[in-house]
Amino acid sequence: MASTTLISPSFSSSSLLFTKPSSSSSATTATALLSPTNISVSALHFHDRKLSSSFTTSTVTTLTNRRGRRRRRTHFSTHQGMTCSASSLPSALLFDCDGVLVDTEKDGHRISFNETFAERELGVSWDVDLYGELLKIGGGKERMTAYFNQTGWPEKAPKTDEERKQFIASLHKRKTDLFMALIEKKLLPLRPGVARLIDEALEKGVKVAVCSTSNEKAVSAIVSFLLGPKRAEKITIFAGDVVPRKKPDPAIYLLAASTLGVEPSSCVVVEDSAIGLAAAKAAGMKCIVTKSGYTAEEDFLSADAVFDCIGDPPEQCFDLAFCGNLLEKQYVS
Ligand SMILES: *[C@@H]1O[C@H](CO)[C@@H](O)[C@H](O)[C@H]1NC(C)=O
Ligand SMILES: *[C@@H]1O[C@H](CO)[C@@H](O)[C@H](O)[C@H]1NC(C)=O
Ligand SMILES: *[C@@H]1O[C@H](CO)[C@@H](O)[C@H](O)[C@H]1NC(C)=O
Repeated sequence: MASTTLISPSFSSSSLLFTKPSSSSSATTATALLSPTNISVSALHFHDRKLSSSFTTSTVTTLTNRRGRRRRRTHFSTHQGMTCSASSLPSALLFDCDGVLVDTEKDGHRISFNETFAERELGVSWDVDLYGELLKIGGGKERMTAYFNQTGWPEKAPKTDEERKQFIASLHKRKTDLFMALIEKKLLPLRPGVARLIDEALEKGVKVAVCSTSNEKAVSAIVSFLLGPKRAEKITIFAGDVVPRKKPDPAIYLLAASTLGVEPSSCVVVEDSAIGLAAAKAAGMKCIVTKSGYTAEEDFLSADAVFDCIGDPPEQCFDLAFCGNLLEKQYVS
């Protein structure tokens, strides 16, 4: 079980800049959030070494939360040289789609494969763990083919390679239709905090875009059906083949910045995978990772922050002010 280290919410303002007095010639920025907030240990890797040097004491206590679950909470006491500064805002907030807005693989594609298999009475169903393994095979058709090659083809499937190809193609077409229907019927849930953070940004005039190198039709449907038409009209979508190279190439993020007319360095990206993170960092942007079902174990060392989700109060992980703080210099002389 991963332990959760919480920064004491006793820092009451939504974001604080802690500055260590001159001794070490560098000051340290640490960010704390409003409200009981879960910041995983990995979330703090970006500043935890810096944190430990900027706080004189820290104590870990075990608390019992409302649900009676025990959790560790780290209380930091600060140096007297602490200063507060208002945070700036990012020029744009750029969201990946799959895994960030919705957990599309786990809650969408997997379910649609299962529904297709059930409709065709193939006697096959992919559970969460198995699907996680199968995701190592890129492409839905290839995934089904490799699975049947390995576990044996269903009795109802044809026997020749050529017929099997058509069989797989027809399954895949049906699966794609069922996936779109899940979105249109709003049966695919938005991840917690997504709508709230987008609303915060739009309200403050921060540009919002969704940047994905997967299928444009699905991305547009997710934005308009799940976020709703009012938000959708204010969100720019960069998806599909708008760029020649997929993530981890930074092309999609650079295109978004130039189209929106903002500096890459003033953009904050929300990603869920190591590949997406690499694209954002190569574009010179700040990147927050919200881990998703199938990416939780990936390496996010280059992220500016890592959380389990964006979250809604009372389980909010971060807000717009936190995004703004990432843009501020970490070291101030
Ligand atoms: C596959 O998805 C369906 C929903 O379409 C669900 O009812 C079923 O339990 C899933 N199978 C497994 C093994 O998780
Ligand atoms: C499945 O097996 C067939 C031959 O039986 C082979 O041609 C094909 O490449 C295999 N496909 C995958 C994805 O394993
Ligand atoms: C925060 O932590 C609590 C207890 O550890 C857990 O139940 C809850 O799901 C977490 N919330 C988020 C948003 O991760």
